[in-house]
Amino acid sequence: MFFGGTGDLAYRKLYPSLFNLYKKGNLRTHFAVLGTSRQTMTDDKFRAAIKKSLADSGNRADSKEASDFISHFYYQAHDVTDTAHYSVLKDAAEKLDKKYKLQGNRIFYLSMAPQFFGTIAQDLKTQGLMSTNKDAFNRLVIEKPFGRDYDSAKQLNDALSKSFEEEQIFRIDHYLGKEMIQNIEALRFGNTLVESLWNNRYIDNIQVTLSEKLGVEERASYYDNSGALRDMVQNHIMQIVSLLAMEQPVAFTDTDIRAEKVKALRSLRVYNVADAATNFVRGQYGAIDNQPDYRHEDNVPHDSTTETFVAGKLLFDNYRWSGTPFYVRTGKMLADKFTRVDVVFKKPLVDIFAFPQSQSTPLAANVLTIFVEPHAGFSLQLNAKTADAGFQTEPIKLDYMVDAAKSAETPEPYERLLHDVLKGDGTNFSSWPEVSYAWKFVDQIRRVWDLQEPQFPNYTPHSMGPAAAEELIQRDHREWIYRLNK
Ligand code: NDP
Ligand code: BG6
Repeated sequence: MFFGGTGDLAYRKLYPSLFNLYKKGNLRTHFAVLGTSRQTMTDDKFRAAIKKSLADSGNRADSKEASDFISHFYYQAHDVTDTAHYSVLKDAAEKLDKKYKLQGNRIFYLSMAPQFFGTIAQDLKTQGLMSTNKDAFNRLVIEKPFGRDYDSAKQLNDALSKSFEEEQIFRIDHYLGKEMIQNIEALRFGNTLVESLWNNRYIDNIQVTLSEKLGVEERASYYDNSGALRDMVQNHIMQIVSLLAMEQPVAFTDTDIRAEKVKALRSLRVYNVADAATNFVRGQYGAIDNQPDYRHEDNVPHDSTTETFVAGKLLFDNYRWSGTPFYVRTGKMLADKFTRVDVVFKKPLVDIFAFPQSQSTPLAANVLTIFVEPHAGFSLQLNAKTADAGFQTEPIKLDYMVDAAKSAETPEPYERLLHDVLKGDGTNFSSWPEVSYAWKFVDQIRRVWDLQEPQFPNYTPHSMGPAAAEELIQRDHREWIYRLNK
């Protein structure tokens, strides 16, 4: 059942992803989709909208396969704040259950504003929409944002947990559905070479960059109340960092992986006021050519202090990572659209090639880069001898990039995540403890920032953010591996 079934996310991402699952045989005959929102419409009109959504996403929507798929879609108008009306949804769900032999299995996808999550969860239970068949599942899928600080997130979680157990709640973080983010576990725990060096003895620092080329576009009314720290750091970046920092799980199961991610987040140092001010910097983009500055984008107040860029240093107080910082940065209107992780190894303790008469340049650090997007792959920078007379070294790269044909077959994040929900696999979803530790960390930065008026705008569009982001890392005698004009 899709609440917000006529919204942008549902049409643009969710229905095309479901269709991909159908085409691959992961959904067959025993399924029905009930879409709801306040507007009234017939099943046929809803199906016509689904057809358009499939066509818009590049599918052949007039094929027999598409019409078979679409025939499983139904629509019921419903205002989620109208408790008495849930009985109509209940009747519709029961009819579909019988027709498609669903055996009481239900998934409730809340693709709508989070302020409604609590009331929907409550009414699903009190109005009897949750299946009571003890062999059937009831699953709740929710979208971000999950609160705007720890207190509001906890309030929301308390409301949801009155109706659903933690293992029934699937909190979407679409970065966890990305191929190369899932590959972090394979890279780390499938390779002795990598995992045996994956600690503070050998790694100098780790850098996570989520760079966006576009500005705030048409989402300003949401974004201006959020900012980059809440929009990207609290969820996506903290999830990536916890996968990079966690210990090896006992087994490759959702419970074991979540347990290790939570342990990692528990050892993340929550900054005091002074350290928060030193270790995190923010920015807001200025104007360029015909592009207005952030404060002159549609629906943004002219005195907005919302950050469109964040860079920060994270420290773990544990045996594996003590002394090895994780630098993170993200922002809008930056040089390019990409996501990457750079793992910078320590240089050899002694550079035996650096004898005085040598022409050799000093040894470069080994760097393992995980390219997440737009291209997927890994690259390992090593030092090797130059292929000429004498003895000089130079950095060379071992590259593996997923080829275009394979990339085209790679499922979209929402397809993977919907598949996981159908299977009941919570590995690639954020658990409540993860969300809560992430908020506690981020809240501390926010608290400090809220005390000071920032000097905005402070970075030029198509750069890699404000000068302060460079200073943050240079202060530690390091540099960002991805730099413009390097
Ligand atoms: P939209 O505003 O496009 O859709 C909202 C949906 O909720 C519509 O179907 C609307 O239909 C319905 N709705 C609103 N009020 C009610 C109500 N009282 N009762 C019943 N239905 C209601 O939002 P999006 O699809 O963009 O976003 C949905 C969720 O996904 C949000 O939490 C958002 O933050 C999140 N998200 C969205 C992304 C995107 O790419 N769009 C990306 C990441 C997260 P109607 O008005 O007819 O009732
Ligand atoms: C969303 C943020 O969660 O992620 C957006 O709300 C951001 O502001 C988007 O643009 C980036 O996702 P992706 O997959 O395009 O990197």
